[in-house]
Amino acid sequence: MGKINVLRCVSCKKEFSLNEIEYTCPSCGPRRGTLEVLYNYDALKRTLTHDYFRSLEGRTMWRYLPLLPIENRRFIQPLRVGFTPTYSFPDLASEYGLKKLLIKDDGQNPTASYKDRASAVVVIKAQEKGKSVITCASTGNAASSLAGFSAATDLQTIIFVPRTAPEAKISQLLIYGAKVFLVDGSYDVAYDLAAEAAEAFGWYNRSAAVNPYLVEGKKTGALELAEQLDWEVPDVVLVGVGDGSVISGICKGFDELLRLDLIERVPQVIGVQAQGSAPIATAFERYNGNEIVIEDIHAHTVADSICVGKPRDIIKAVTYVARNGGHFVRVSDEEIEEAILTMAKQTGVFAEPAGAAPFAGLVKLAAKGELSGKSAAVMVTGSGLKDVAAVRKIVQAPIEIEPLLDAVREHL
Ligand SMILES: Cc1ncc(COP(=O)(O)O)c(C=O)c1O
Ligand SMILES: [Zn+2]
Repeated sequence: MGKINVLRCVSCKKEFSLNEIEYTCPSCGPRRGTLEVLYNYDALKRTLTHDYFRSLEGRTMWRYLPLLPIENRRFIQPLRVGFTPTYSFPDLASEYGLKKLLIKDDGQNPTASYKDRASAVVVIKAQEKGKSVITCASTGNAASSLAGFSAATDLQTIIFVPRTAPEAKISQLLIYGAKVFLVDGSYDVAYDLAAEAAEAFGWYNRSAAVNPYLVEGKKTGALELAEQLDWEVPDVVLVGVGDGSVISGICKGFDELLRLDLIERVPQVIGVQAQGSAPIATAFERYNGNEIVIEDIHAHTVADSICVGKPRDIIKAVTYVARNGGHFVRVSDEEIEEAILTMAKQTGVFAEPAGAAPFAGLVKLAAKGELSGKSAAVMVTGSGLKDVAAVRKIVQAPIEIEPLLDAVREHL
């Protein structure tokens, strides 16, 4: 292995060797100076052919190991991460005027979210680097996946989540044995505290964006989608956006496949943000190819996982989506709730609010006729079981009865 060529600052393009730098470009700072992991694509192109992938057996994201920043296989855990199912729903596709409607269900990962892809990689990096403590701030999923993937290692895991994180996510953290700080503040506040603590106490930081290896794990959803469709990518891929790391990973994944001649074109990647939490959409709309103007906000939305007012991967998200030819769309909380219900009832896939946001985006764009005749894939990034409180508000209450047949009859 040893296939990483260089780490490059996304803003000033300065290149660093692997041992030279841990997090972000010192000249551009933690927000604008996030690093891109670049490989030796010319060498990889010779081996990573369609035939190569056809010959592989393992149905996990580790089938993309030559494109991942892992030096040591021995730290790979047996948990089945990635290669999540991609379902096709032809009837629903016709209903929305699409050629094809695909749903990739990442709720099927070991801790039930897309974030497992990133945590699986970074827990290995921490071990390769000989770290003993790993930390992160999170709206809940990144943390629960980190806790899950470090559970069986010698790493101590220290988590910062907002006090308001859904109960299921907090329970996951505790059951996996993490030390959990419930921060009296938003995710944005928890993020800064985790960064300060990581620096003060020398912990390895897995928080979004500053750790360059996360996006590498997050790109695997794109690699899989392409391979599962026999390298015929859909026209459009819709993704929920908070910090902007998942969408950056997905764009990078498609870019790399194109560079390796494994696909002939990249799909248009569309980021879906909640209306009350859309600073990346705003920055994207103002972007003219020069400087990205960052305007942080106080975010609010029912979709807790994408409730982010100070998005940490905004530079990559805006740059990559612009390069990809994609764009952003905003959806209201009501549209997200409606999407949870529609998707569950019409496909059997139950998503948490952030996981249903891209479906809400699809419904919105389809209603405007913007997806007519196109094939579209929705990335469901988290299971509905992560946040049952969010759905109990939007479904009818069950019928409480005495254990008598007459009582059943009365309600039929
Ligand atoms: C379920 C789910 N969907 C989408 C996202 C958005 O990812 P990002 O914050 O990288 O934009 C997250 C992030 O926490 C998430 O947990
Ligand atoms: Zn820089």
